[in-house]
Amino acid sequence: MRNETIAIHGGFDQDPATKAVAVPIYQNVAYAFDSADHGAALFNLEEDGYRYSRISNPTVAVLERRVAALHGGVAALAVASGQAALHYAFANVADRGGNIVSVPQLYGTTHTLLAHVLPRQGITGRFAASDRADDLGALIDGDTRAVFCESIGNPAGNVADIAELAAVAHRHGVPLIVDNTVASPILQKPIAFGADIVVESLTKFMGGHGTTMGGAIIDGGQFDWAANAARFPAFSEPDASYHGLSYTGHFGQTAFVARCRSVYQRTTGAVLAPLSAFMLLQGIETVALRVERHVENGAAVAAYLRRDPRVEWVNYAGFPDHPDHARVQKYLGGRASSLLTFGVRGGLEGGKRFYDALRLVKRLVNIGDAKSLACHPASTTHRQMTASEQRGAGVTPELIRLSVGIEHIADILADLDQALDAAESGRADLGARRLASE
Ligand SMILES: Cc1ncc(COP(=O)(O)O)c(C=O)c1O
Repeated sequence: MRNETIAIHGGFDQDPATKAVAVPIYQNVAYAFDSADHGAALFNLEEDGYRYSRISNPTVAVLERRVAALHGGVAALAVASGQAALHYAFANVADRGGNIVSVPQLYGTTHTLLAHVLPRQGITGRFAASDRADDLGALIDGDTRAVFCESIGNPAGNVADIAELAAVAHRHGVPLIVDNTVASPILQKPIAFGADIVVESLTKFMGGHGTTMGGAIIDGGQFDWAANAARFPAFSEPDASYHGLSYTGHFGQTAFVARCRSVYQRTTGAVLAPLSAFMLLQGIETVALRVERHVENGAAVAAYLRRDPRVEWVNYAGFPDHPDHARVQKYLGGRASSLLTFGVRGGLEGGKRFYDALRLVKRLVNIGDAKSLACHPASTTHRQMTASEQRGAGVTPELIRLSVGIEHIADILADLDQALDAAESGRADLGARRLASE
């Protein structure tokens, strides 16, 4: 099936109990056992079924199957947020200590997780000088547990060379973990290019309406944990915390996600609520259509800004002269992301005047909403980084990040035009007056 169809039907036909064709919200914590033996069989994983919603829930399970299907993965775990998904993925691969070798262009909170928070738990982030596979390869050693990148960096907009990064990771016997939040599976399916594990914030394009937090870990099922047991003993050795279970032995190809669920979700509980799963499923039904319009509007906004003398620079990988343009063709089917960055004339102050004058475009820190959104990363999402870390992540003081929404393009451009006027004149009220007179 194609994206549009999976997004509507993937992982669900009808409710087995009621024949409802919309996914029911199983707002339920626990599930009855037929007998002591039945309960024991469920706990021993000898029988399929639900026990307790911290481990799995029928509504969340539909979301998991749908997201896995959209990615061409073998299984998925849905959790409370994108950050929880990243935390679980990193911990799952490196919880006996080790390092994660990463590209430098990361979402600010993920950088903080790898640079500051996980090191307190014995897992260190190592940041390469660039997203080139050679630069990452140079940092891999015997303690490396994964190579990590964002398929499209937020906000840098770089497009990672997934095939090359997978090749360098696999040469060293480690998996490639890809955060595919900005691309969504509509623009890219990293598993098809060699990624082993995909992490996504469902809060963004997948949900698409700025209403619901959620995250997912998707297992490509290809990494051979048992063959690499010296580096990853936790997947094949008996797990004392789960009555001696071997994850590769019991779950085979889905060992990674199964261990995330059995160890991390079960014991630390960043559970996705059934209602949230339902809301995200509603959003996902239209994700393919929405992303099409996001891409179209993003291209129009990028072209408009680049033509405009009030704008100093625009970073948009869809431009033929962008260094990652060939990767846009290879990895995104020629469809550049609607997340773009630019700097207006007048530096930091001009940028702030522009930002303050926006009327339709919302000032906030989110991306992938149906609404157009603008953010000033240096003062918000990336403010915990040093100036040089910010530069490495592609963040400069004047940079404005736009997540171009799916409103009518003429209305988006009109708002940008009035805000650019305001930035030029220094009078942030100019735009308001102009809109009022329309
Ligand atoms: C690339 C990327 N990954 C992960 C996240 C975290 O997702 P969440 O906000 O759902 O925790 C974000 C949030 O902006 C993001 O942009």
